[in-house]
Amino acid sequence: MPITNDDIARGLRQHPAQISPKYFYDQRGSELFEDITRLPEYYPTRTENAIMQRHAADIAQAVGPGRTVIELGAGNCSKAEALCRMVRPACFVGVDISADFLAEAVERLRRTCAPLDARAVAGDLTQGVVLPSDIPRTGRLVFYPGSSIGNFDPPHALALLAHMRELAGADGALLIGIDLPKDVGVLEAAYDDAAGVTAAFNLNVLAHVNRLIGSDFDLGQWRHRAFFNAAEARIEMHLEAAEPCEVHWPGGSRRFAAGERIHTENSYKYALPTFTDMLARAGFARTQAWTDERGWFAVLHARP
Ligand code: TRP
Repeated sequence: MPITNDDIARGLRQHPAQISPKYFYDQRGSELFEDITRLPEYYPTRTENAIMQRHAADIAQAVGPGRTVIELGAGNCSKAEALCRMVRPACFVGVDISADFLAEAVERLRRTCAPLDARAVAGDLTQGVVLPSDIPRTGRLVFYPGSSIGNFDPPHALALLAHMRELAGADGALLIGIDLPKDVGVLEAAYDDAAGVTAAFNLNVLAHVNRLIGSDFDLGQWRHRAFFNAAEARIEMHLEAAEPCEVHWPGGSRRFAAGERIHTENSYKYALPTFTDMLARAGFARTQAWTDERGWFAVLHARP
């Protein structure tokens, strides 16, 4: 699947301007994201891992051994490693938009989980994932951890779940992590940490966009903003111009007033019944869910 970026200039011209979150993940963005997952304020990764460990036996039983695990947005493959130890798949396929970062991670996984037929596939989820034809078609488990489904608005999330249902096939299943609604203070701190790592991650998208389309964003003119939008049940991340500025790129330009924003990401928080309903609409009728004792995060196993 060719990865194109003609949507960037279009998004920059919109009012309000926007940049797709997929552009966060250049090499540096992928590294910064790894740092986010280790922040004291960023509870999702830690909580999801704890659920996977605490319910390892039940999850392994629900999944079954010898599967072909297809992880979407595999990143550094650290979750894949934990899962592979738990469920002993026959084959692992990591799919990620950050191709080099993924290739190294899959190479490591092949060694740490040997013997494992582990493959790396560069792909953009939002364009539909096309797997090489030699990947087994039966016994598939689509793995989508980290509440990444929350980064799509509900209609797109539903379409993506339906795509996963297709990827999984008739006898396949989905193992997915979702972040649940909770105290706003906890939510907002997770996306605006004291050390400023999330701010650096958000700002890095401008450096990546500069390289991709030849724009001249000055990162010093922009500030990280993250807040919970209760009406939409989502965390929003924006970049806000600290002063009036003008950005140019081959073929266009855009003026920003002080305080004007570029919307870079949403992270929707789903209540369990709402999400189970969405899974059913996507063709996953049977679900089993595990959560932590605070009820902050859930891992769901879903079958057609
Ligand atoms: N999907 C996760 C979440 O929404 C991880 C994530 C994606 C994230 N983009 C992010 C976390 C930006 C912090 C900042 O929480």
